[in-house]
Amino acid sequence: MINTHKREEFDIEINQTVGKPFIKDAKFSTRNVDVFYGEKQAIFDANIDIGKNQIIAMIGPSGCGKSTFLRCLNRMNDTIQDCHISGDIRLDGEDIYQKQQDPVLLRARVGMVFQKPNPFPKSIYDNVAYGAKLHGLASSKIELDELVEKSLTRAGLFKEVKDSLHKPGTGLSGGQQQRLCIARTIAIDPEVILMDEPTSALDPIATAVIEELMISLSKKYTIAIVTHSMQQAARVSQRTAYFHLGYLVEVNDTNTVFTNPEHQLTENYITGRFG
Ligand SMILES: Nc1ncnc2c1ncn2[C@@H]1O[C@H](COP(=O)(O)OP(=O)(O)OP(=O)(O)O)[C@@H](O)[C@H]1O
Ligand SMILES: [Mg+2]
Repeated sequence: MINTHKREEFDIEINQTVGKPFIKDAKFSTRNVDVFYGEKQAIFDANIDIGKNQIIAMIGPSGCGKSTFLRCLNRMNDTIQDCHISGDIRLDGEDIYQKQQDPVLLRARVGMVFQKPNPFPKSIYDNVAYGAKLHGLASSKIELDELVEKSLTRAGLFKEVKDSLHKPGTGLSGGQQQRLCIARTIAIDPEVILMDEPTSALDPIATAVIEELMISLSKKYTIAIVTHSMQQAARVSQRTAYFHLGYLVEVNDTNTVFTNPEHQLTENYITGRFG
């Protein structure tokens, strides 16, 4: 639905999301999504499709609602008191907020990697095995060992940790911990991975490793990444969404957003003229 309210709070009018917010072959579709923290509205009428086996980057100034929007997609906002959501969010055409939907099962399909690596206070092995055990994905110790090795290998970490699988995950470096968290996420074979600034605490080498990993994972998974780095968005994503003060201003092919943005607010941001 097209929203045509004039936003008095902006010098520049935002009528509706410009560019190409909708695509064929959507994995996720959100329509008329509003999010509130108590009385305060954090997302206004977000309408977007997220394409299957693609990486979409979500960019915009601090506080514009990127994390809030990302958390709608696996119902992580359910865990925040006073947060409520209206509108329609569909994963493969199914309403993820319908009563029958178990949020725990949803989060197994839609995994999440956070800004700050958050390994469990367990061994490297148990960090990766935990979700797989919970969801009954391995029927024997041998199968579980294989799954742990495969997940760590795919996350680009196995070689570095193969002799210390039973040491604590928290003893790894920041970049290694982030790859451990990615291994933990992919061990349960999700369909979508949400990443909220996954490399903002990492050095350029660890960042490059994780970007490579994202690109290779996107062959199999759908990925939505929040990033403050426009270079990162340009390197890894096919599509980019620009948020501004809770509004989804523009969505398009990444190349178009960075070289020929349609909206003045997008242009201001990507040319560094915001704020
Ligand atoms: N748990 C919360 N309770 C109340 N308000 C919140 C909460 N989380 C976020 N907000 C508010 O919602 C708005 C959007 O915040 P959000 O964290 O989604 O922004 P962001 O784009 O991810 O910012 P950043 O780039 O700094 O991470 C902000 O005004 C923020 O203060
Ligand atoms: Mg955020």
